[in-house]
Amino acid sequence: MSYATKKLAEEKVFKDPVHRYVHVRDQVIWDLIATREFQRLRRIKQLGTTYLVFHGAEHSRFSHSLGVYEITRRVIDDVFVSDDQWDKQERLVALCAALLHDLGHGPFSHSFEHVFHLDHEAYTRFIILGDTEVNAVLRKVSEDFPQKVSDVIEKTYENQQVVSLISSQIDADRMDYLQRDAYFTGVSYGQFDMERILRVMRPHEDQIVIKETGMHAIEDYIMSRYQMYWQVYFHPVSRSAEVILRKTLERAQQLYHEKYTFKYPPNPFVSFFEGKVDLEQYIELDENIVLAYFHFWTEEDDAILKDLSSRFLNRRLFQYIEYDPGKDFTKILELEKLYEQAGLDSKYYLVHDSTSDLPYDFYRPGEEEGRIPIHLLKSSGELSELSRSSAIVEAISGKRRYDHKIYFPEDVLLENGKKRTLRKQILEVLNR
Ligand code: NI
Repeated sequence: MSYATKKLAEEKVFKDPVHRYVHVRDQVIWDLIATREFQRLRRIKQLGTTYLVFHGAEHSRFSHSLGVYEITRRVIDDVFVSDDQWDKQERLVALCAALLHDLGHGPFSHSFEHVFHLDHEAYTRFIILGDTEVNAVLRKVSEDFPQKVSDVIEKTYENQQVVSLISSQIDADRMDYLQRDAYFTGVSYGQFDMERILRVMRPHEDQIVIKETGMHAIEDYIMSRYQMYWQVYFHPVSRSAEVILRKTLERAQQLYHEKYTFKYPPNPFVSFFEGKVDLEQYIELDENIVLAYFHFWTEEDDAILKDLSSRFLNRRLFQYIEYDPGKDFTKILELEKLYEQAGLDSKYYLVHDSTSDLPYDFYRPGEEEGRIPIHLLKSSGELSELSRSSAIVEAISGKRRYDHKIYFPEDVLLENGKKRTLRKQILEVLNR
């Protein structure tokens, strides 16, 4: 029996709070889970700084990755198995891509990507194709297998049904994280009837479509996605924590370039500060190391680094106001001037943050990562794009919401002592 089809003597299961159990029967999947690059995902939280707002949100990318694998496995083994539009040869590549799709996420990934201009998808590919344990396992299947898995994740794989399973408007990735994030944050939105959705998914030509009778389950999914974005993912307070995290890293980087002498040499960060990160250093850095350095930095002499790192650890976050970049631009200039007079560094203590999301996208290639739209399969065999059949989805389709905020340390501005009048003036401009 070849390695690609080799089964474990006994099925292994992982207990999972969202899917109850994650089932592993394939030797390849079992071996991939055991690699150091995959085990590293236990030390990367799925939701970054969100745990500072929803304290339950400590779950890891490891559990999410297993969940995406399990959903993909169930669709293939329980639903597609008897459908002649599905090519059974694609099973293993689909399962591997599902399991490994987030492999390149770094610690607090969005903040890190922002500060150091990194791209986690590129690192996912580097880990799959480079000199790693994951690559060695995949190569045992066949020489070209790592490339195939990487192509699925990059969405360039020949069979677009496989891509669609892992990366489309309704894919195993989103179905897992919406439910998992809802479970661990404890919010009531984010729930939808996945069992029903799995049962109405069909491989059809070059995509995965939904039987028309399943439309209402899909509407629920679209709504839960919409609410999770605004209630959890873009929560203004967890964004405040992210702002502080980013600014702490920026400060450390700036000090490094100014040849500041750190009490604890920031060795794990050096290649990030210098903008040339090699794969080995990337894999080594996880959230435990980052947080250990935040502790060290609270003992540094630099007042800004000391303050920001201790703010993050002790959750002394910035306050925020709404901001309209079109109208309020002069306000920022005025604030920057006042900050300078008051001896506050506006680069670190007056932060503009914006975010936007398209809740559901249709026929707009290039936008929203070019994800494939949802098509309903009618009993006549015709396809219809979801927002044309569903009034609910149509109502929230394609509407982009922008959200801009200014973050600042209100506690500092309220302090007594020197420059008190200036600080009060700043608060007035901020309408506090
Ligand atoms: Ni994911």
